[in-house]
Amino acid sequence: MVSFLPLELDPPARPATHRPRARGRPKTPNRLAESPRVAYTPAMPDTAPNRPDLPAEIARRRTFAIISHPDAGKTTLTEKFLLFGGAIQMAGQVRAKGEARRTRSDFMQMEKDRGISVSASAMSFDYGTYRFNLVDTPGHSDFSEDTYRTLTAVDAAIMVIDGAKGVESQTRKLFEVCRLRDLPILTFCNKMDRESRDTFEIIDEIQELLAIDVTPASWPIGVGQDFIGCYDMLRDRLELMDRADRNRVAETIQIKGLDDPKIAEHVPAHLLDKLLEEVEMARALLPALDPQSVLEGHMTPIWFGSAINSFGVKELMDGIANYGPEPQPQRALPRQISPEETKVSGFVFKVQANMDPKHRDRVAFLRMASGHFRRGMKLTHVRSKKPLTVSAPVLFLASDRELAEEAWAGDIIGIPNHGQLRIGDTLTEGEALRVSGIPSFAPELLQTCRAGDPMKAKHLEKALMQFAEEGAAKVFKPAFGSGFIVGVVGALQFEVLASRIELEYGLPVRFEPSQFTSARWVSGDKEAVDAFTNANKQHISHDHDGDIVYLTRLQWDIDRVERDYPGITLTATKEMMG
Ligand code: G4P
Repeated sequence: MVSFLPLELDPPARPATHRPRARGRPKTPNRLAESPRVAYTPAMPDTAPNRPDLPAEIARRRTFAIISHPDAGKTTLTEKFLLFGGAIQMAGQVRAKGEARRTRSDFMQMEKDRGISVSASAMSFDYGTYRFNLVDTPGHSDFSEDTYRTLTAVDAAIMVIDGAKGVESQTRKLFEVCRLRDLPILTFCNKMDRESRDTFEIIDEIQELLAIDVTPASWPIGVGQDFIGCYDMLRDRLELMDRADRNRVAETIQIKGLDDPKIAEHVPAHLLDKLLEEVEMARALLPALDPQSVLEGHMTPIWFGSAINSFGVKELMDGIANYGPEPQPQRALPRQISPEETKVSGFVFKVQANMDPKHRDRVAFLRMASGHFRRGMKLTHVRSKKPLTVSAPVLFLASDRELAEEAWAGDIIGIPNHGQLRIGDTLTEGEALRVSGIPSFAPELLQTCRAGDPMKAKHLEKALMQFAEEGAAKVFKPAFGSGFIVGVVGALQFEVLASRIELEYGLPVRFEPSQFTSARWVSGDKEAVDAFTNANKQHISHDHDGDIVYLTRLQWDIDRVERDYPGITLTATKEMMG
C-alpha cells in the first residue's frame, strides 16, 4: 500500500556509484528537497512533442493512473515511480508507524485490515524535465464507480499485468472503462523474475482479449531464475537486472544492433540464441511502435520488468514521458475546454471527507482543465454561480501534502472545503462551463440503514449525506416512511460505510435487507413526473441532490413503467454535472 503521510524511512537508497552509507535514520526523512536522488538521469524526450503549440509547463505534464488486478504489483510499481522521481528514498521499505503516522490511504481500519486500497489519491513528482501526476485507483471491483470517475481525470493509464497470470478479470473490466474514453494505455508486464508465460503468448492474449494492437517496447531475456534483463527494442540496448539490490537502477549496456559482439559478454549463449530468434520473429509478426496509434488508444506498447527489483521501471517512465499524452482537452458544455486556454478551469472528480480524522475537513480533488492557476485566485463555482477564493489548495506529494502555490492544466490539486464542492462541479474564471462525462451509476445492492440509537437519526442523516456527496454510496430518502435506503455497487462498501460512520461520527449503525433491489432515476416533463410519482408513492424516493428515484424489486416493474408511462424515462446512470 502506498503511503501518503509521514513515513518511517530506512536509510537512503545507495547510489550505484557510491560507497555504502552508514546505516541510520536520516534526520529529516520527509523533506523532499533533501532526499538523495537515485543515481540515474532520466532520459530526455526521444520524440518530438505532439503539440508544439502548448505552453512548455503544460506540455511537460503527464497525468495518469495505474490499472491492474489486485496483486499484480500496482503498489510496488507506484513506489518505484516515486523512488525514481526522487520523491521517496527507498521504496518497498516504507512503513507507517503508530496512529499519528497512519498513512492517508490507510486511514480506514477496514482498508488496513483487508489490504485493499479503497480510497484514491493523487501524487505529483518530477521525472527529468517532466511533471508526473499519478492518480491512485482503488483496486477492488466493489469500488468501480470511484475508479471510473478517477479515470475521467487522467490522460492515460498504465496497465500492469502479472507475467504468470496475464490479463485477469479486473484488468479487463478496467481496460474496458479506459476504452470507453479512448485513453492511451501503456502496459507493464510485471514479475518477470518469476516463472512467467511465454512472451508471445502474453502479447497474443492482450491482443485477443482486449482487442488492441500490442507492440513490444522491450523483450525479456530468459524467464524466472534465468531472467537477466531485457533488450530495449526502441533504443537498441541491453538492460540488465541487478538481483542483489532491489532499489538500484539496472545497468544499461549500449550495443550497436543485436549482432554487436558485445552482447555475448553479457548474455549466456543459450539465452542469446533464443533472444535473437524471438526478436526477429517479433519484428516480423508484431506491429512496430506507432506513437499516433498509441495516443488514439489503438495500440499499447508493452515493457517487461520486475517492479520489486526496480527493473524496467525507468524504461516505462521514459515511455510515459515520450509516448504518453500531454494534458488533453476536456469535454464540457456548451463547449470543449482546451488546456492551453489562458483562463483557469477545472473540475471535481473526487471528494474525500475526513482525510485527517482530527479535522472534519473535506478535500475536493480538482483536475485542472486549462490555464495557469495561482494560489488565492478567485474562481467561480459554476453550479452555485458563487465566487470561491482558493486560498489553501494542496498538492499531494509522495509523502506529504503541501500548499500549491500554482498549478497548470493537467495537475490535480486538493481544495479543502466545508461541503460546497461536489463531484462533477466545475470551477472557472467566470464562464458558465460544465465539464461533462462524469457518471453516477444506479446501485446494484440496496439496504436500509438504521442508527443503533434511534435518537441519533439526525446524525445518521448528516453522515449519510456526507458519504453520498463524497460518492461513496447512493442515499435515498423514501417519500413514504422513515429511514434511509443506501445503495452501493459492491457488498464490501456496506462494511466500509458502517465502519466509517462509526469511526468518523461515533455512530454504530445497522444495514438491513431492503424490500428493493433496483433504483432508477426518473425524468420527464413535470406533469408526467407528477402523475407518475403520485401513482407510485410507495416506490418513490429522492437522492441526495433531490432528484427523483424509482425503487423496485423487479425488472418487470421497470418494463411496466416504461410501457405505461410513455412520458417518463427511467435511467440507470446520471451525469454528475455541476
Ligand atoms: P497490488 O498493489 O497490485 O495489489 O500489488 P503489490 O504491489 O502489493 O504486489 C503484490 C505482491 O507481489 C507483493 O508480495 C509484492 O511484493 C509482489 N511483487 C510485486 N512486484 C513483484 C515482482 O516484480 N516480482 C515478484 N516476485 N514479486 C513482486 P506480497 O508477498 O503480497 O507482499 P510483500 O510481503 O512482498 O509486501
